[in-house]
Order: sequence, then structure tokens, then C-alpha cells
Amino acid sequence: MFSPRTIGHARTPYAKTSDIPKGLGAQHNAEGVLEILPELEPGLTDIEGFSHLIVLWVFDRSEGFDLLGTPPSDNRPHGVFATRSPRRPNPIALTIVELLRRDGPRLHVRGVDMLDGTPLLDIKPYLSNVPPEKLRRGWLAEAEARKKE
Ligand SMILES: C[S@@+](CC[C@H](N)C(=O)[O-])C[C@H]1O[C@@H](n2cnc3c(N)ncnc32)[C@H](O)[C@@H]1O
Repeated sequence: MFSPRTIGHARTPYAKTSDIPKGLGAQHNAEGVLEILPELEPGLTDIEGFSHLIVLWVFDRSEGFDLLGTPPSDNRPHGVFATRSPRRPNPIALTIVELLRRDGPRLHVRGVDMLDGTPLLDIKPYLSNVPPEKLRRGWLAEAEARKKE
């Protein structure tokens, strides 16, 4: 395997997990800054043309994992790989953010859902190629339908 390296840190309004919106219908509109290490700044060349980015980061304040867990968006348990739980065998997270602007090694973004100071692993342009009619939302769609009943 490989030893991941931190490429930078997220600056977000969230000091504690209870500050982060959760559950069905939670909106992630908070703005934040992805601060990339100065020596890696050339790797951001040409990123400005992309509206959205995939950010890979570490659940650095999560310990251990549960193979089954009940997420805030449902009252039924689901397998860890069918959820976005922070308690997973490899504590790796993924967030799609909107790129607002670049200021040197700092990317101003909207849509952060990680704690302030979270280590970043990677950034890639987001290019969705899944047609909406082919996308199935599994247990989440069922939980949403039950909530509306
Ligand atoms: C449900 S996870 C989803 C994260 C990411 N969007 C994903 O899909 O992998 C988001 C939750 O992780 C927790 N969290 C955020 N930053 C964290 C960190 N640095 N360490 C541990 N837990 C964190 C918070 O409870 C937050 O509400």
C-alpha cells in the first residue's frame, strides 16, 4: 500500500461535530477554505475552470469503526459501506464542493461538511457522468419517503 500524505487543511466554521448539519434534508452551504501546502501550489494550475471539486479528506477525530450503524438520516441500521459514517475501517471522507475562487494556495469553496483543521488527502475536478434517471438512492430514498408519509 502507501502512506498517505496531507496536502493541506480545511478551514471551516465547524469547531465541533454537533455544529455540522445532519440528517434528512440537511443542507451543506457553509463556506470554507482549502489551504494547500505552499510547495504543492503548482498542482492547482488550471483548477479555476472547474465549478465543483471532489475533496478527499481524513476523519482525523474519529476512532474505530462499526460495520453496522444507524445514521442520523434513518432509524434503521445499514452497513458501513452503504453509509457515509465517520466510523469506518479506513477513515477516508469525500465531499463535493463548489469552487468559488482561488487565492494562490487557498481555494475558497462552498459546501464544506468537515471540522476546522481537517487534513486533506486529495482534490480532483468533479465531472458527473451518471444520468439522473440511472441514479438510485437506496435506503436513503426509502427513509425520505417514510418521512413524507
Ligand atoms: C456523515 S460524514 C460525511 C463526510 C463526507 N461528506 C463523506 O461522505 O465522506 C460528515 C460527518 O463527519 C463528522 N466529521 C466531520 N469532520 C470530521 C473529522 N475531521 N473527524 C471526524 N469526524 C468528522 C461530522 O459528524 C460530520 O457531520
